Amino acid sequence: MADRYLSFTATAPGRFLTARLGLPQPAALNRWTAEHPSLDGHLLHLTAGGPSGLDLAPVLARTGLPTATVAAGSAAGAATGSTGPAAVVLDATGVRDVDALAEVHAALHPVVRSVAASGRVVVLGAPLDARDHHQAAVQQALEGFVRSLGKEIGRGRTVNLVRLTDASAAESTLCFLLSPRSAYVSGQVIEVGAAGGPDGPVDRDLPLAGRTALVTGAARGIGEAVAETLARYGAHVVVLDVPQAAQDARRVAARLGGSALTLDITAADAGERIAAELPDGLDVLIHNAGITRDRRLVNMPAEHWSSVLDVNLASVLRTTDALLAKGTLRTGGRIVATASIAGLAGNAGQTNYGASKAGVAGLVRSLAPRALAEHGVTVNAVAPGFIETRMTAAVPLFIREAGRRMNSLAQGGLPVDVAETTAWLAHPASGSVNGQVVRVCGQSLLGA
Ligand SMILES: NC(=O)c1ccc[n+]([C@@H]2O[C@H](COP(=O)([O-])OP(=O)(O)OC[C@H]3O[C@@H](n4cnc5c(N)ncnc54)[C@H](O)[C@@H]3O)[C@@H](O)[C@H]2O)c1
Repeated sequence: MADRYLSFTATAPGRFLTARLGLPQPAALNRWTAEHPSLDGHLLHLTAGGPSGLDLAPVLARTGLPTATVAAGSAAGAATGSTGPAAVVLDATGVRDVDALAEVHAALHPVVRSVAASGRVVVLGAPLDARDHHQAAVQQALEGFVRSLGKEIGRGRTVNLVRLTDASAAESTLCFLLSPRSAYVSGQVIEVGAAGGPDGPVDRDLPLAGRTALVTGAARGIGEAVAETLARYGAHVVVLDVPQAAQDARRVAARLGGSALTLDITAADAGERIAAELPDGLDVLIHNAGITRDRRLVNMPAEHWSSVLDVNLASVLRTTDALLAKGTLRTGGRIVATASIAGLAGNAGQTNYGASKAGVAGLVRSLAPRALAEHGVTVNAVAPGFIETRMTAAVPLFIREAGRRMNSLAQGGLPVDVAETTAWLAHPASGSVNGQVVRVCGQSLLGA
């Protein structure tokens, strides 16, 4: 269902009227296209809290954006030039006390207004130091700072925090956040570990070339967009969906040069069937299939509870366990599960769905370190907010409108926004990103 309000505010009379009425004015987001693969403009690299130990320059160069670096303590305003930056990276890893935190204000205060529409602000922080509560306090302060700036910055601009210790391990994450691919990701805190680079060189345009990816529930909606994006990155994609959706699954697979596998993911032997289908192994497993059966708990039949828990959580646990145990997931593999902001914030009428999606986040956090240590496989989740799909088109009008507007970008996301985030987590160079639950929600006002 098209967002008519968004189209209306893109017109001159629409902008005038909504401004007069004090209504939200969502900006048209700048998303990735083959003709327009990067942000327009330069990247401003700032520092707060003294010189950092990070070797950021070569990593920022990989974003493809011309970079202007401003030394710590210098005036950043001059470096913004006549046109504002498309992106600002503030290295605040060296901030260890409240006085140094003032440098975050000093660095961004003069430039934030000039950041281009659909631009990016990425703050880099350090892991919290358990032995230094001053450092931990101000590093945690960056989280509140980033989330607050995300809510006020407007014009389709996003603000995220990356906690890291090694710049090169964060390359795939920074390239994602500093590109149009992350258009609907804002207000997020992403932790990047130290290790986990790819074994060999990675093709920049086709990073998944030679890899096999299986996407559950890929006959339509978000799953179809994920399959399409992974195929665009070079993967051979297996489109899995229920037998009733076989025709659509085959159509998607044929379009992407992949293969279709019709299978109900709740089947007890689903993992074994997938393993049998992929004797040469699997590199990327995307748990996307999901259903809703909404009712308030007082009215919810047991069947609504069990079917949602079975598709959204139990089958994810079963197939993950089976494919890891059988060694189907190769070393360097990636698992990305689909949670939801309903699982993080809760939603009336969705006790079953919220429980299942919170369960996915729990699975990711617990399994991630073990899966990496024992199998060399990372485990992460995406948590979509309001995404324009058939699932959300079925939501009653008033709730749908509220869902679309109640986020910092004042609009719903598109399936491709979830797909691009999934593809970043599935990237061979994202081995240092593990156990993360990343919201793709335009910084929804629901939940943290
Ligand atoms: N649309 C949103 O706004 C939104 C928000 C948060 C989370 N999500 C999650 O994203 C995922 C995709 O959502 P969508 O909006 O594209 O949904 P959708 O209903 O459009 O597509 C879901 C797909 O999963 C398939 N599927 C369902 N049960 C299955 C089973 N047992 N075995 C195999 N395939 C099965 C369906 O046939 C369908 O093709 C779901 O996990 C959903 O919970 C969606």
